[in-house]
Amino acid sequence: MRLYVPQSGIFGRRQVDKEDVVRRKSEIVARYGSWTAHEIDLGGGISTLGRDFEADKLTRIVQIVADLSGKAFEDLRILDLGCLEGGYAVEFARRGARVVAIEGRLANFEKARFAKEVLGLDRLELVLADVRELAPERWGRFDVVLCLGLLYHLDAPDCFALVHAMAEVATRLVVIDTYVGIGALEPFAYRGRTYWGRRVREHDPDDPPERRLADLWASLDNVWSVWMAKPSLLNLLADAGFSSVFVCEFPFEPAKPSDRLTLVAVRGERRRVRAMPKASEAVWDARLPFRERRRPSRKQRTTFVVAERLAHLVPKRLRRLVKRLWSGAHPQSSGEGG
Ligand SMILES: C[S@@+](CC[C@H](N)C(=O)[O-])C[C@H]1O[C@@H](n2cnc3c(N)ncnc32)[C@H](O)[C@@H]1O
Repeated sequence: MRLYVPQSGIFGRRQVDKEDVVRRKSEIVARYGSWTAHEIDLGGGISTLGRDFEADKLTRIVQIVADLSGKAFEDLRILDLGCLEGGYAVEFARRGARVVAIEGRLANFEKARFAKEVLGLDRLELVLADVRELAPERWGRFDVVLCLGLLYHLDAPDCFALVHAMAEVATRLVVIDTYVGIGALEPFAYRGRTYWGRRVREHDPDDPPERRLADLWASLDNVWSVWMAKPSLLNLLADAGFSSVFVCEFPFEPAKPSDRLTLVAVRGERRRVRAMPKASEAVWDARLPFRERRRPSRKQRTTFVVAERLAHLVPKRLRRLVKRLWSGAHPQSSGEGG
């Protein structure tokens, strides 16, 4: 039976043999196991995973790229690092982007290749390689780099080196979906800077290489990975030369744990404020402390709320008198306002 595979953008519709697709899919499952995460519609009622999977993250990533890349999908060159079964790479290639997707595990790579072939995505280049070798000389440059569910699988110094490498290959956006470390943080030195993170175990040290590779979502070989603390990750992005970094909250990902973020780092030109050039210079040189130290504004602090409630127990006239005496003694104090 012939099957019309729906293709968007420049590809139109393609005819493939449904029995052949079903047969090849079962061969892949027999050899490498079932799909684990990326549900890709192959047309004719066939899909990779074969069941619904949440589309929140994919929806968020597509929207970020559409809103912030500054180009039409057809004009974008996109790099997908640690592409797993190719769901993100396929989505962007179907939209007409030129995509290079790097995956280090053969089992995942073969599943992505199958989807590419069935969908006839000539603009998708799949590469079986280690993202720790990322360099512009080898891969060229990209408008958008996707680093989704990957950074927290790398150990030090590879996790720091990858952020610098992404800054080198990206010309516009780097989108990072990652866990951040909280709690017991350790310092790590990299290129003369100190970053803080939490060590997390990826594999049992006794696991042989085959067993490590069989854990399809994990690091390729490193037993430990580093989950960078959010302030350190932001410092690292600043050190790598990005001009602004945003945390994406919408489109919503309601199931995302509170220690996992979507960051969008922009490779723009840093601007000095003309009205205050010296003060502006200091802003670019600043770094965040390794733990969040900021406090809420005065009116939301417990001390303020309690003091305000207690004040209401005092007669109004007496309160006015105290206020008058206070402002007489502190003529400059105007509070935070706003
Ligand atoms: C948790 S999965 C995330 C996959 C996908 N990017 C996503 O967000 O759904 C991590 C992927 O990165 C791959 N990976 C881990 N370390 C890698 C490395 N050093 N080089 C290439 N791929 C790697 C794994 O094989 C796996 O496919």
